[in-house]
Amino acid sequence: MRQIVSLSKRRGFIFPSSEIYGGFSGFWDFGPLGVMLKNNLKKKWWHDIVEINDNIHGLDSTIILNPKIWQASGHTGPGFSDSLRECKVCHRRFRGDDLKENKCPDCGGQLTEEKKFNILVKTFIGPVEDKSTLSYLRGETCQGIFVNFSNVVDVVRPKIPFGIAQVGKAFRNEITPGNFSFRSREFEQMELEFFVLASEDEKWFEYWKERRMAWHLSLGIKKEKLRFYEHPREKLAHYSKRTVDIEYQFPFGWGEIEGIANRQDFDLKNHSKHSGKDLSFMDDKNQKFFPFVIEPSLGLDRLVLTVLIDAFDQQKERLILKLKPQLAPYKVAVFPLLANKPKLINRARKIYDDLRKDLSVAWDDRGNIGKRYYSQDEVGTPWCVTIDFESLDDNKVTVRDRDTTRQERVKISDLKKYFQKKLEGK
Ligand code: GAP
Repeated sequence: MRQIVSLSKRRGFIFPSSEIYGGFSGFWDFGPLGVMLKNNLKKKWWHDIVEINDNIHGLDSTIILNPKIWQASGHTGPGFSDSLRECKVCHRRFRGDDLKENKCPDCGGQLTEEKKFNILVKTFIGPVEDKSTLSYLRGETCQGIFVNFSNVVDVVRPKIPFGIAQVGKAFRNEITPGNFSFRSREFEQMELEFFVLASEDEKWFEYWKERRMAWHLSLGIKKEKLRFYEHPREKLAHYSKRTVDIEYQFPFGWGEIEGIANRQDFDLKNHSKHSGKDLSFMDDKNQKFFPFVIEPSLGLDRLVLTVLIDAFDQQKERLILKLKPQLAPYKVAVFPLLANKPKLINRARKIYDDLRKDLSVAWDDRGNIGKRYYSQDEVGTPWCVTIDFESLDDNKVTVRDRDTTRQERVKISDLKKYFQKKLEGK
């Protein structure tokens, strides 16, 4: 973990938020490479969930919603609370769920009684700060989907089953943020609400459970590091009939990266009751009913951390991020062999500018070639291109592969096709 934290800071994946003011617990910023990796993951999720399924539609709702929504959804109540206990001796705070014994894990001191603590982040909308203006930053993105259910149905006229998907920020006043960015107070979720017939809920639950696991494997995450975890009945969230998490084996233990929940008709029914607007669905036979909801919900920031940890490899001095090329921030790095030879620089620059029209490409002319290779390995760049004196005569360049370190000469005119084929896995 220490190496991941250090690499993230040193190479610009993840920075502590507000660092010059001493940081801010539970908040993290994405640097130049972090935002590229995050965007690649987001794009892939959106493509695989929304773009290739003609029965799944996108949405982008607001972060601050009418506070009545959070009452109807049950989030202002005990269902969205953490239990807090404090050590009377060293004053460290713990989540009740994380404690195995009835004493402080750090100093053995006596603990206070459990206190329930609602984790919705509060704010005030309007000039006065009182009960009437109390509002919340959304604790999960899906509520924006449920309250827009009729809007979307009216526009797309879907047949059941169908889905609505959204990517966006969520906020939770976590009692114990930690394990680097694993548990944060501000994070992004990628959520799909898939509406099905109540009689088919189990079939669709199994479908999404398997499909989501296959998706994580398609990112190149190691199979042996992934597993399902079935929530015991007594620990299910207030809306859930069944929840299965996809967990990853982090250096600090197994942790949830995605949850697949059967939310039944809890949300549509409750919003109908509290808003007075009928959110039932009418099928082709004019029959009205509340569909059940199968929800795969994934944390994007947590996925970035997972992918970084899973791709990390060390071979003696050499640190390598073995990211799948499709996810790597840079696909290619271009180097002139020497930095002080204008002819080489000009040729290399032309190749760089040309490749950049279609691919994400890095430029490096510092230090020697060996150092540049190491530097690109560390950020997961799959291929490096070196332009040398021979290139000026034979119009070929050396392409070096990150994982095999093998090098081959490739015609400059073929380079773009060569990388595109590789990116398609050919
Ligand atoms: N709408 C359902 C829902 O929000 P959840 O299990 O509370 O379910 C879903 O959250 C996903 O969001 C988790 O699997 C995790 O990846 C991410 N997530 C939840 N809390 C988080 C936090 N404090 N920091 C980072 N990611 C978080």
